[in-house]
Amino acid sequence: MKTPASLDFGHPPETIEFWKRLVREALSLSPPTPFYLFSALPIAERIAELDAALVAAGFKSKIQNLKSPLGFQHFLSCKTQPVAPLLRWWREQGSNIEVVSEFELRAALAEGFTPENILVNGPAKHHWLPNFSLRGLSVNFDSPAELAKLLPLAKKLNWCGGVRVLTGEEFDSENPPFPTQFGFSPDEAVTALKKLLRAKVRTETVHFHLRTNVSSVAVYERAIAEVAAICRAAKFGPLHLDIGGGIPVRNVLSRGGKVYDGEFGLRSFAQMLRQSAKLFPGLREIWLENGRWLSTGSGALVVKILDVKERRGVRQLICDGGRTMNALTSLWEQHKIMAVPERSGAAALTVVHGPTCMAFDQLARMPLPRSLKAGNHLIWLDAGAYHIPWETRFSHGHAAVVWHDERGLRLVRERQSFEDFWGAWK
Ligand SMILES: Cc1ncc(COP(=O)(O)O)c(C=O)c1O
Repeated sequence: MKTPASLDFGHPPETIEFWKRLVREALSLSPPTPFYLFSALPIAERIAELDAALVAAGFKSKIQNLKSPLGFQHFLSCKTQPVAPLLRWWREQGSNIEVVSEFELRAALAEGFTPENILVNGPAKHHWLPNFSLRGLSVNFDSPAELAKLLPLAKKLNWCGGVRVLTGEEFDSENPPFPTQFGFSPDEAVTALKKLLRAKVRTETVHFHLRTNVSSVAVYERAIAEVAAICRAAKFGPLHLDIGGGIPVRNVLSRGGKVYDGEFGLRSFAQMLRQSAKLFPGLREIWLENGRWLSTGSGALVVKILDVKERRGVRQLICDGGRTMNALTSLWEQHKIMAVPERSGAAALTVVHGPTCMAFDQLARMPLPRSLKAGNHLIWLDAGAYHIPWETRFSHGHAAVVWHDERGLRLVRERQSFEDFWGAWK
């Protein structure tokens, strides 16, 4: 890992001020540390920014009711941030949700989403989706076996059916020569679409999700062209093109110091979508399921420094939260760290550790002010995506969660008690 003298994460000053103020207010509620602080406001800002780019590219605006025949829908990627007040807030905005498991579907229903507002994705759902009898769901089928099992249900319950395609652009990021395990291969997808059409299932969607942090617009463009050829081969005119998530994260660096979104522009993304939509005569909507890009900036992890050590040229801050329990993404990402109270002065190479007995438990290794001491709080920014789903109970219980929206701040999850930590055992 590189440790340059100072890292530029590129946050606008107002973002920094927003989080400093919000963490100070949250600390005044005296939540136990570590805690996550999540806010709906950065999510609303991201959506407004993407909407503006799409409308500027010629998509139908939800507010102005322009004449463009082509619209778009955002689906909340539930797996990215399964936080109950976020689901409630998102539903109040009138938006849809994407789920990939039985628990996520039940969470969406518990938070008041109707089946018409729920899209079910993910592999092997023929093993649990038949337990539900929900009319009007949207379901993207993932394999021939799944389709065979679910097709009668799709017809009976008037599902809005779709087919997920494994395009040539989709591969396992950690092992690029290998495909992912998702969706139908192109030949299978043509067969599946024909089968659905023959069976007169309401078939309206063609779908792909490439991976997270897609580096450039051209990757999406090639995947869309491939999917268009599959639709032509199946004589299928989709009403919805569901391009999954994958817009790259902002203000976060790789462990090697690289930005993820350096080659990705929202405007050119929107323009490409408007152009590529022409490959699908009769298309009504583009569906988007962005997780990381949408919610990373909506959270912070707040930890307290418990102890300080200095050895072999590095300062080590031992905190009550860290990678092992709260921030698995720190394995491959670097995030901005701020201190409460603010600390300045000479910097020293510092490793921020969590409290578990693993050398792996390193939230960051970067130059930080030497004036940091036990009792100070650290704010690890951009912790709003894939932290709650990947949190662990390694030696300690789950962290508390503070939620913020237009109505203010409140503690929405207590720190896990010992009784809850141990009481699950029979
Ligand atoms: C089907 C699907 N849609 C959307 C997402 C969200 O992806 P991201 O967080 O990269 O935007 C995922 C993530 O795994 C996914 O599997």
